[in-house]
Amino acid sequence: MERILVLDFGGQYNQLIARRVRDMNVYAEIKPYNRISVDEIRTAGYKGIIFTGGPNSVYDGNSPHYDKEILNAGIPVLGICYGCQLIAFMAGGVIESANDISEYGKTELTVKSGAVFEGVPEKSICWMSHTDYISRAPEGFEITAVTDNCPCAALADEKRMIYGVQFHPEVTHTEYGKRILRNFLFEICSCAGDWTMENFTAGAVESYREKLAGKRVLCALSGGVDSSVAAVLLHKAIGDNLICVFVDHGLLRKDEGDTVERVMKNEMGLNIIRVNAKDRFLSRLAGVTPPEGKRKIIGEEFIRVFEDIAKEIGSVDVLVQGTIYPDVIESGKGDAAVIKSHHNVGGLPDVIDFKEIVEPLRDLFKDEVRKVGLELGIPVNLVRRQPFPGPGLAVRIMGEITEDKLEILREADAVFREEVMNAGLENEPNQYFAVLLNNRSVGVMGDARTYGYTVAFRAVTTDDFMTADWSRIPFDVLERASSRVTNEVRDITRIVYDITAKPPATVEWE
Ligand code: XMP
Repeated sequence: MERILVLDFGGQYNQLIARRVRDMNVYAEIKPYNRISVDEIRTAGYKGIIFTGGPNSVYDGNSPHYDKEILNAGIPVLGICYGCQLIAFMAGGVIESANDISEYGKTELTVKSGAVFEGVPEKSICWMSHTDYISRAPEGFEITAVTDNCPCAALADEKRMIYGVQFHPEVTHTEYGKRILRNFLFEICSCAGDWTMENFTAGAVESYREKLAGKRVLCALSGGVDSSVAAVLLHKAIGDNLICVFVDHGLLRKDEGDTVERVMKNEMGLNIIRVNAKDRFLSRLAGVTPPEGKRKIIGEEFIRVFEDIAKEIGSVDVLVQGTIYPDVIESGKGDAAVIKSHHNVGGLPDVIDFKEIVEPLRDLFKDEVRKVGLELGIPVNLVRRQPFPGPGLAVRIMGEITEDKLEILREADAVFREEVMNAGLENEPNQYFAVLLNNRSVGVMGDARTYGYTVAFRAVTTDDFMTADWSRIPFDVLERASSRVTNEVRDITRIVYDITAKPPATVEWE
């Protein structure tokens, strides 16, 4: 399979670059610059390399550098932003700090020549974000584009097929960004573009059929997109040799457990064991209020329940995990701080007697997982469903979790989601839900005083859930949802709308 290497120097857009390349049907993988050598790159047979941006200046003592030999490896290279400066630096050019004239944002680009600019007009808009600039191109390189403040906005050594652009072609604000990447992939690297989800699905089903023939395979199903797609894919490959365990912890949304069971069992034909473990979870959660405490208990109890089931099932050969590519990528930047301990129903290996782990989706981004899901015939409402945290409604109920609070939140949440969907907004906020606060406030209904809970509506718009903005849901939609919730759901006197972005808040309240 043809592959492009995205060599990561710590840029914030590393995943975006890989996704853009894959959108053009070429498989791209990201590797931190310090985890792969020139020899390894040569042996791996990449069709081309893209150097990402990065936050450093090439002259910083600790800035990421790379072996110059890469420029003589006979593999086409495209450097972006810091990656472009690094190419210039490695080849003997001069980089200077612009300080007072650093460029940030939409900038007019003037193109002179060069294979990556084929079909790009002389003047267009590009997205810049840099302080350092290349003041002298290295020998053998030509300056192929400029801006008012940047004497070398792009350079090229056409003979060695080494290219650099100071701006970000992967960002949508760069008008001809896609064209530039396309030129690099297809004209310069001669890619064929045969990475499609149709091919991936067919290939994966075929290869697991062979690899897992005669084996007993166990999959923890959460009802989320990743584990559902992994399970259906393997079921296509090995049928009932795949045993799926769906632990219903009683913290799911309204009707969710039944829907997951119905779709997966009846429609997709999976071999499912559903474990109704609500009582176990609720009794362990009784009286617990700190968010991390709740998360920890749910994670642990999950493993216990699984352990018990695993005993009944007996030993299996293979355990399936729904790991996807963003979980696998290690950034060139280093470790990020842990804000919340995320619990995912995949991490169970040490309690089950098994010999092997299979991660059928580990090379795929989320949008690719969804496409595979559709290829496999999973209903679109399941494939497109918004993310739902492993600990479920437990992180949306402030304070102690009780059955009563769960019932109230489930109803309020269902109404809010229904109103957002009825307004045709289901693709606009990327995640939307209700949260139940722990304190009561005074209200009036008819002639009587009421004293009920407050519900917060939360809706966010985001690309990657690392940062998010609050969604500008039209007031009339909020109004309808608010009035329905206070009328239809008991014990609620007040509705508030959460207008905090992430950061400083997180998406979930706990
Ligand atoms: P936060 O609250 O961290 O959420 O801004 C970011 C995204 O992650 C989801 N989330 C979780 N997903 N296990 C999960 O599988 C968890 O423990 C968990 N906590 C948050 C959240 O719904 C949002 O989409």
